[in-house]
This record gives sequence, C-alpha cells and structure tokens, in this order.
Amino acid sequence: MKKKVKNFGKFHSQLDLPFSETNNEFLREIFKTLELKFGLKYASNQKLIDLGAGNGTIVIFTVLNYCIRAHGIEINQNLKKEANNRIKSLKKEGKYKKRLLKKTKIKLGDFFLHNLKEYDYIYIYSLPSMHRYLKHLFRTAKKGAVIISHRHKLENFSSILKEKYILAHKREKQKIFTFIYKKIS
Ligand SMILES: C[S@@+](CC[C@H](N)C(=O)[O-])C[C@H]1O[C@@H](n2cnc3c(N)ncnc32)[C@H](O)[C@@H]1O
Repeated sequence: MKKKVKNFGKFHSQLDLPFSETNNEFLREIFKTLELKFGLKYASNQKLIDLGAGNGTIVIFTVLNYCIRAHGIEINQNLKKEANNRIKSLKKEGKYKKRLLKKTKIKLGDFFLHNLKEYDYIYIYSLPSMHRYLKHLFRTAKKGAVIISHRHKLENFSSILKEKYILAHKREKQKIFTFIYKKIS
C-alpha cells in the first residue's frame, strides 16, 4: 500500500470493471466457507485484501465479523470516499466498532500495480475480460494464499493457482458461484 500509484487509467479499469456490490447473504456464505474450509480465524493475525473495494462492503464485513485486518484498493475516487465515509460513521457507533475499524485501510489506487505478498485472503469480484491481466498480480501473492473470485472462474491460471472449492449460492432461477483457489507456487 506504500507505493505511490500512478497512471490509474492504464487498463481503463473502470470501464472494464464497473461497480457492483457483493450481496450480503453471499458474503456470509463465502466467509462461512473460508472459516470452515480455509482456516479463517477470528481475531487472528490474518490479513485480507479486496481488489476493487467499491464502497467498502467486504473490508467492513471482514473487520466487524472476523476482527482481522482488511485492506481495499479502489480506483474510483468517489467510491473510495464513500467507503471511508461509511467507516467513519460506523466508528461513531461506539468504542468497540471504533477499535475494530482501525483494522481497515482503503486506498485509492490501481490493483494491477499492487504487491499481494502480505495477504492471506485475496478477494476479487472482477470480470473475465480483465482476467488475462491478473496473472502477474497473483504471482506476487505468497504460496498458500487463498484467492476468492466472486461470480467468475479464473481460467488459465493452473500454473499458479489450484482450484479448491466452488461455492454455489442458491437463488431462484439464478446460478451464482464463488470460486476459491490456493496459490501453489
Ligand atoms: C464489481 S465491483 C466489486 C466491489 C466490491 N469488491 C464488492 O464485491 O462489493 C469492482 C470494483 O473494482 C473497481 N476497480 C476496477 N478496476 C480497478 C483497478 N484496476 N484497481 C482498483 N479498483 C478497480 C471498480 O471501480 C469497482 O468498484
């Protein structure tokens, strides 16, 4: 997060990947799976990042429910501001939340330029059209890191990621999946 990020428009990211929020119910299912099958531990030293943090939903959920550090990178200035405003107003709800929310950090930046080596859980809700640019990014993650791709399978990543679990979110007429991988090399 320290690196000064330049050239935000490099991949025309906001056009490639507009804002859409992960549904709260899906989020609960995803995190339950991480807890039961991928070693997510309450109040541990583990660290999560949301690539394209939007209005901060994932980061806020992580900290309030799991009490671990959660970071987000967002390229859109307005969304980043909205996320930080949400965090600010939640902090006003009491000392407990204020203490927990100190574990959040949402930065303005381009996730393609980021290094992921410090993270145990890497969340991304992206689109297949941008997946071909993601390989170099996931290469920076540490071995054993868990990568969560909401809605879209990460195709052609088998040299660095192993698919471990597909979570099906059961909704009327709609089939929505979350794909969970482990970094293998
Ligand atoms: C589908 S939304 C997901 C939002 C949030 N992660 C969630 O699941 O609720 C994708 C977000 O990624 C942001 N984004 C797109 N390209 C980006 C980039 N290169 N770096 C950082 N954020 C990016 C968009 O502005 C958008 O807010």
